[in-house]
Amino acid sequence: MTSKVEKMALPVGVTLDRFIKKNQGSFQFASGELSQLLRDIALAGKIINREVNKAGLVDITGALGTSNVQGENQQKLDVIADIRFIRALKNGGEVCAIITEEEDEIIYTGNDDAKYVVAIDPLDGSSNIDVNVSIGTIFSIYTRVTPRGTRATKEDFLQGGRKQVAAGYILYGSSTILVYTTGHGVNGFTYENSLGEFFLSHPNIKSPEDGKIYSVNEGNFDDFYDYTQRYIMSCRKKRMSGRYIGSLIADFHRNMLKGGIYLYPPTPSHPQGKLRLLYECYPMAFLAEQAGAKAIDCESDILDVTPISFHQRNSIYVGAPKMIQELELFFKERAKYIIKEARFEKIED
Ligand code: AHG
Ligand code: MN
Ligand code: MN
Repeated sequence: MTSKVEKMALPVGVTLDRFIKKNQGSFQFASGELSQLLRDIALAGKIINREVNKAGLVDITGALGTSNVQGENQQKLDVIADIRFIRALKNGGEVCAIITEEEDEIIYTGNDDAKYVVAIDPLDGSSNIDVNVSIGTIFSIYTRVTPRGTRATKEDFLQGGRKQVAAGYILYGSSTILVYTTGHGVNGFTYENSLGEFFLSHPNIKSPEDGKIYSVNEGNFDDFYDYTQRYIMSCRKKRMSGRYIGSLIADFHRNMLKGGIYLYPPTPSHPQGKLRLLYECYPMAFLAEQAGAKAIDCESDILDVTPISFHQRNSIYVGAPKMIQELELFFKERAKYIIKEARFEKIED
């Protein structure tokens, strides 16, 4: 029987550092650099967590009055998270260049000898900052293709989703959790404030096969294409739960744990949807695949979409495998419809 004293001194669990160290051998060509980079990201996450937690106390909420490269209003925390993250990666020394949602061009860290490049969304769900709703940070890591010691180039970032060596997110929610994959499953680490450490809390995360949650901005329903509308109507008919936080990371995290589908479909005015391929869709798709879920657009797996530019957008449907399978039936209907239309046009000629 466990004594009272023993109970008071129960083990605290596996820290992120220990977990990374223990699993370092499973990385291809492991040399410790990726491990160090993951630790640097965790440090940035801790710092941003601190900023996020005091958002209501000091005057750092609200719009800064400037715009980012996509012409959207930047929130102060967007900018703070961007600065913090870049600084942590620069000081860590394992990254030679960074692409961030908040800046137009490549940011060089001054570490041309470093092996990795990183694409980040420093603050995801920024419209939720001022209202105490969950927000996050997303990252995606590649081994550079250009030789070490030279300046990184566009090619280092535009390798395609399947070349990611690691991807993950930090969700600042009811607790702060860091979730990542290096291609060997997905693991989640919850932040323990008093110790200042992330502890393994969600080992080997697997998406349920099927689910009952659908997450989409239904305010855009009238703009969706007919096949998307019919899919959403089928969800309603089945009395599934509609859950939409408006922070991709938070919606994705919940759906991966509970079973659900997240949709950001294209519309005639936004044929590529809204989300960004390099630092939103690719990392989500890598994590989804590793957790046994699936991420697609109307044409292909997200990981097979060809990258053309740093800030390109892509539509995305990501969720439990059975739900995606069902959605694909609606896509097939659409294909038939398009073929019929083409035939009709031919007869008309
Ligand atoms: P960001 O805050 O990095 O610009 O991302 C916001 C994204 C994503 O997090 C969220 O799911 C989506 O925008 C919400 O868009 P709508 O308001 O159009 O639904
Ligand atoms: Mn985002
Ligand atoms: Mn953002």
